[in-house]
This record gives sequence, C-alpha cells and structure tokens, in this order.
Amino acid sequence: MNNFKQLKERIARLKEELGAVIVAHNYQRAEVQDIADFVGDSLELSRQCTEVDAKTIVFCGVRFMAETAAILNPHCTVLLSEGNAGCPLADMININELRAWKQRCSGASVVCYINSSAEIKAESDICCTSANGVQIVDSIPSNDILFIPDLNLGHYISTKTKKNIILYPGFCYVHHRLKPEQVKLARKLHPEAQVLVHPECPPEVIALADAALSTSQTLRFVKASSHQSFIIGTEEGLLHRLHLDNPDKSFYLISNGQICIDMKKTTLETIVQTMELKQNIVTIPEEVRLKVKQAVDRMLAVSYEVKATEVAK
Ligand code: 13P
Ligand code: SF4
Repeated sequence: MNNFKQLKERIARLKEELGAVIVAHNYQRAEVQDIADFVGDSLELSRQCTEVDAKTIVFCGVRFMAETAAILNPHCTVLLSEGNAGCPLADMININELRAWKQRCSGASVVCYINSSAEIKAESDICCTSANGVQIVDSIPSNDILFIPDLNLGHYISTKTKKNIILYPGFCYVHHRLKPEQVKLARKLHPEAQVLVHPECPPEVIALADAALSTSQTLRFVKASSHQSFIIGTEEGLLHRLHLDNPDKSFYLISNGQICIDMKKTTLETIVQTMELKQNIVTIPEEVRLKVKQAVDRMLAVSYEVKATEVAK
C-alpha cells in the first residue's frame, strides 16, 4: 500500500499534467483537505472554481456538489474524486415525486436546497444553501413555499420567516439522528462550551443549541468567538479545519456517530485513480445545465457568501 508521501507526490504530478485544481468539502478526510487547493462548503467551492484558471476541477465531495461545479464551470472538466460518493439526502426526492408535490401545492414556489440532484434543481424556482435559506425564502414574492428536500432545514427556516413553508420529508441521516439527550449530556460534560449545530439537525436539537450554522459559518463563528470550547453538531470532518484554525480552542462532538459515509469514500488513492484514468467525469445535459444555472444564479443574486478558504501550503 502506498504511503501518504508517495500519494501526495503523485497527486502533485497529476495536477501539473491535467492543469487541475483540487477542491475539498469541509467534511472530507483530513489528508484530503490537506492536499486540496481550496476547502469550503459546496457552494463556496463551486464559485471558487469559477475564479481559477484551471482546465480540470477535481471535486473531493459528493455528486451534487461536483454537479454544481460543472454547471457553473462549463469550460472545465469536472472529475468527482470517487464515483460512488452520493448524498442520501439528495436521493430522497426523485423527479416524479417532485412533480406530484408541485401539482398538490400548485401556486407555491419551489425552493430547493443545494443538496439535491441537477434534475431536481432544474425543476425548482430557486436554490438555497444551509447558510442563506431564510434570506432566499424572504426574497420570493410568493407566500407559499414548497421547500425540498430537507425537512429539518425547511423547519428551521419556517421559524425565521412569516412565509408558509410546505415541508418535504427528506433528511440527512448524519444530522437527523442527533438527540436532545445527547446535547444535554454533552453540555453537562462541558458546561463552559458553546453548542453549534447544523440546521439539518432536528428542531429539538436546534432548540438546545447556541446557534444553527452552515459548515463555513461555523468556521467563521468559532474564529471570531471569545469562547474557548465548542460542542459541534455536524459531520466530524469539520473538526480538522476547526483545530487548524483555532489551535488553542477545544472541540467536542455531540455523539461519535457524526460520520457521512459518502464523504469518507474519497481517499488519496481514489484521487490518484480518478486523475490517472480521467474517470468520474461529471456531465450535465446542456438544457438541464441552463435551467439549473438559472436557479443557482437567482440565489447568487440574493446572497453572495464569502469565498472558500485557500489552504496555506
Ligand atoms: P454545508 O453547505 O453547510 O457545507 O453543508 C453541506 C452538507 O452536506 C451538510 O450535510
Ligand atoms: Fe448528504 Fe448528510 Fe452526507 Fe451532507 S452529511 S453529504 S447532507 S448525507
């Protein structure tokens, strides 16, 4: 088995050969984050890619994220770092289900969480992320909103807006399984710590937290905070960056089950294989790409978050 040093050298050579930029989501393995040019949330990464002069984007994350990168960067070849890395939340809605819900909720605008397939985004009015959901919903003229596919994020947004939010019953298993009792226990063990959770967590968990934040919002919040310790309610990969950025602060997970199996499918080996064989190319039919781009562009016109973090080499 190759060691990390050899794999990193091979990746560096392949990057030169392909004229590639490597981007990694905040939930990726530590060693994958370490070889990336940029680390961030899905949208930050896709947008970051539009600003670099690269022929190839190697996206270390899950499929819907690489699809967004391909939609925003049609002149680049986008390679997904592991062909089987999907998002079970995104898979909880298919096009027939969306069409049936749209019929049932006729007159409602469809707001689609970025964690969804290109096909689903193409049939939505506007996209949102976990960072800008409230802003996006409030920007829409219609009072009735069909929010897909994440129930918990939709519910969280509904507590912050006067709009009528119709919830679709999808969820992310990593966040949905967190329990209020676990938060209470973590608080008992670390009474001085601030509790920061992702808005994909259930409402009872969010109710016990000090803040509900997207992954990149969590990174910015912790950096700016005068608190010294934090209980984190999101995928454990975020701890790598939290520790790097804040070496003097302490971080605890709510439970030891905060692992997204698909995010962990990417390894240095899968990156080498993907680049060597130029495999897992993400392709989106042009008519779908244009429709998705419209939904993403509408979101960007309302909310333009800060850029992904450039990894210090
Ligand atoms: P962020 O957009 O907050 O990075 O979250 C992505 C995700 O997959 C959450 O589970
Ligand atoms: Fe999907 Fe949840 Fe994994 Fe995020 S953590 S990629 S929402 S399954």
